[in-house]
Amino acid sequence: MYNETDFNLEAPVQEPDRQYYYIEQCRKLVQDIEQKKGRRLKACVNTFGCQMNARDSEKLIGILKEIGYEMTEEEDCDFVLFNTCTVRENANTRVYGRLGQLKNYKKKNPQMMIALCGCMMQEPHVVEKIKTTYGYVNLIFGTHNIYKFAELIYNSFQSERLLIDIWKDTDKIVEDLPNERKFPFKTGINIMFGCDNFCTYCIVPYVRGRERSRNPKDIVREIKRHVAGGVKEVMLLGQNVNSYGKNLEEPVTFAKLLEEVEKIDGLERIRFMTPHPKDLSDDLIEVMRKSKKICHHIHLPLQSGSTKLLAKMNRKYTKEQYLELVAKIKERIPDISLTTDIIVGFPGETEEDFNDTLDVVRQAEFDSAYTFIYSKRTGTPAALMDDQISETVVKQRFDRLLALIQDTSSRLTAKRVGTVQRVLVESMNEQDETLVTGRLENNSVVHFAGDESMIGGLYDVKLLEAKGFYYMGERV
Ligand code: 5AD
Ligand code: SF4
Repeated sequence: MYNETDFNLEAPVQEPDRQYYYIEQCRKLVQDIEQKKGRRLKACVNTFGCQMNARDSEKLIGILKEIGYEMTEEEDCDFVLFNTCTVRENANTRVYGRLGQLKNYKKKNPQMMIALCGCMMQEPHVVEKIKTTYGYVNLIFGTHNIYKFAELIYNSFQSERLLIDIWKDTDKIVEDLPNERKFPFKTGINIMFGCDNFCTYCIVPYVRGRERSRNPKDIVREIKRHVAGGVKEVMLLGQNVNSYGKNLEEPVTFAKLLEEVEKIDGLERIRFMTPHPKDLSDDLIEVMRKSKKICHHIHLPLQSGSTKLLAKMNRKYTKEQYLELVAKIKERIPDISLTTDIIVGFPGETEEDFNDTLDVVRQAEFDSAYTFIYSKRTGTPAALMDDQISETVVKQRFDRLLALIQDTSSRLTAKRVGTVQRVLVESMNEQDETLVTGRLENNSVVHFAGDESMIGGLYDVKLLEAKGFYYMGERV
């Protein structure tokens, strides 16, 4: 076990022992620097992008804390890590902007370490640009080796030069590393990594590699550990949770995994993200219907309502199949909340295709939808497609879609007024200290009278008033 590692010996070859060895080595280095400077060293992690990155950052922060850094929100500190996203071009632009600002901090504090990781770093042209334009960066690593963070920091401390460690892919999953949570009462749990779907617009399969599932036993063990530490709600994370477990030595379905997680005593709420509409099983709907813990909320990315565009996107379902699936879910779980992702302006999108999207939005009645303007990603098949759509047309369509979504969403929000909902209290209200703020099963926010002792607890709350994106309520 890692507790018994002898730190006078060479680094162990086995994981996670090897990383615990490097954590200890880094801790000594950090203590030395702290003594010389006469103050604590501070680290700041900034996360861009999705829930996967948010969870990865929790793990990375766990390692930084073990090493001895005090965490801060200020980038003007001793160790800055950007966990980057590259799903759309504007995510990249923001990273470059922030990186530019770090240069001044480093001038003041030359020992400052700057590290970059995440999806953007899996793209060779990005690494080239950083090498040539942002020479003051110390460390770059990718999405496949975050478990090695302590070892990378150690090596980076020993070197004046930029250290780059990017892997193309891996089948390795390292369990039992230090684990930090942003919230004491909820956390994300990776159940699988990577994606094999290759939607033609999407860079994820190229930067996150092939699909690999964690063992159900490891997942349950991790959740039990979090629950023992106060967690009430988990979000099971995967690019397509429906294909969870297919490639394990002993295959397991996602529905079966949910049943196992449901059995964990003390766990109160289960969420998951993201199921692909092409293979959402009847078993899954049934498990959700029967469950006492799984939130009645499904995030079901539509992307487009046009069968023609869906085929060009390689989504493997038609407009009709999507609508049938929605109807089936609503029939079996009448109080289900549906949310979705939609891309506007995919190459070749005609007015007719876009009207199909509006039509699905009208029929499916989403509680809310994330809408994205198509962003061309180098290396994806869609980047080479003819017929890229002009910015003006896309902007107009985007605004029309948004108006429709806001309309449906405010209608649905209003419809819930008067109902009693189960709410997990997450914080004190920022403006009014007599109120607490919590979330419903569908992730909507509600404010109601309460105090600090209620944070992390579940309460029944009657929704009294809908105010755009949130509700006012009262405890019943
Ligand atoms: N352009 C715009 N949106 C994209 N998404 C993924 N790739 C792109 C892209 N190239 C959106 C999809 C996905 C969400 C996470 O990001 O809607 O579901
Ligand atoms: Fe991208 Fe499609 Fe995989 Fe989602 S399922 S990560 S959209 S390729």
